[in-house]
Amino acid sequence: MTEKPDPFTVPFGTIFCDWMTTARADDGPYVYGGVAEPFGDFSISPAAHVLHYGSAIFEGLKAHRQVDGSLAIFRLDSHVARMVASAERLRLPAIDGDVLYQMSIDAVEANSGEVPDPPGSLYIRPTLIGTEPDIGAAARPTRSALLYVVNCPVGDYFKGGVRPLTLLVETEIPRTVPQFGMVKCGGNYAMALAPTLDAMAGNEAIDQMLFATGGDITETGASNFFLADDERVVTRHLDESFLHGVTRSSVIELAASLGYEVEERSIDPEELVEWAERGEAFLSGTAAVLAPVGTILYEGKTLTVGDGQPGSNTMRLRQALVDIQIGAAPDPFGWRTPVKG
Ligand code: COI
Repeated sequence: MTEKPDPFTVPFGTIFCDWMTTARADDGPYVYGGVAEPFGDFSISPAAHVLHYGSAIFEGLKAHRQVDGSLAIFRLDSHVARMVASAERLRLPAIDGDVLYQMSIDAVEANSGEVPDPPGSLYIRPTLIGTEPDIGAAARPTRSALLYVVNCPVGDYFKGGVRPLTLLVETEIPRTVPQFGMVKCGGNYAMALAPTLDAMAGNEAIDQMLFATGGDITETGASNFFLADDERVVTRHLDESFLHGVTRSSVIELAASLGYEVEERSIDPEELVEWAERGEAFLSGTAAVLAPVGTILYEGKTLTVGDGQPGSNTMRLRQALVDIQIGAAPDPFGWRTPVKG
C-alpha cells in the first residue's frame, strides 16, 4: 500500500486507493475480469462520446469500518439500482446490476487496508463513460463504454467538519437538466457550478446553494434538504426534478422509526422564515452524511436557524444514521453489506 495523507488533512476526494475495478462494453455486455487492477490512467479516444456528448454517470457510496473491526458497505443495493437506472435514462449501454455489485465489493476488498477508522470512511465512486469514438453520434447513444470503480479514503466533505452550514436560496436558476434531474450525471453538477461560484465570490460564508427554482425547494448542489422539529421531518416529494438521495431515503426511514412524522411535499422558500424561528434544517447525502444548517440567506434576509447551532433533532438523526453505518447499532433495514477486510 502506498503511503497516503490523513484524509482529514486534505480536501474530500483528492486521494485515491491503490486498486480499482474496470469493465468494458463493446457493442455487447460489460466484460469484467473479476479482479482489481492498479489505480491508473485510462487511454480513450479524443473522439470518445463522453467528451463531446456528456455520456457520463456516477455513484457515491461508502464502506465503513465497523466497531467490531469488520467492514461493510452502506446501501450497496440501492446505489447499484440507481446507477442501473441512470445508465438507462442516459442511454448508456445497460449495466448488469450484479456485475456492478461485484465490482464495488472487489474494489473495496482490494483497498480494505486503506479504510480509515470512523469518523473517516472509504468513499466508493462507480463511474460509467461512453467511449465510442464517433463525433457524429450527437443524436445516437455510445455503443462502447467503460465502467469503473475507484475508492478514496475520506474525512469530512465540508471543510471544518460537523458545523452549522450557510445556504443561499436561489429561486431562479435551475440546478438540473429538467428531464434528468434524478440522474446522477456530471451534467447536473455542471449546471450548479457557475451560479454557486458566482454566489460564493460575493460571500465566502456560503457553503451550498439551495435550489428553489420557481419557489420550489428541491436540493443543494451536493445534497438533499430537510426541515425538522421535535415532531416531524419535512423534505421535497420525489419527482424527476432532483436527485433521489439514498441518504435521503435512509433519513426518512430512520426518522419514521424514531417516531417522527415524515412529510414529503413541496416546500415554498417563504416557509423558511417561520421554520428558522422555531425549527431546524439539515442536508443529507453520502458525502455530506447529515449536516446541520445554521444560516439561510434568502432574498436579502439572513435567517438564523434556531440558535444558529446544530439542532438536537438533527444531531439525533445523524447519530442514529452513523451508528447503523458503523455497526454501533443493529441494522433493522438490512442496509449493511459485509465485505472481507
Ligand atoms: C455524494 O454525496 O456521494 C455525491 O456524489 C456528492 C458529491 C458532490 C461528492
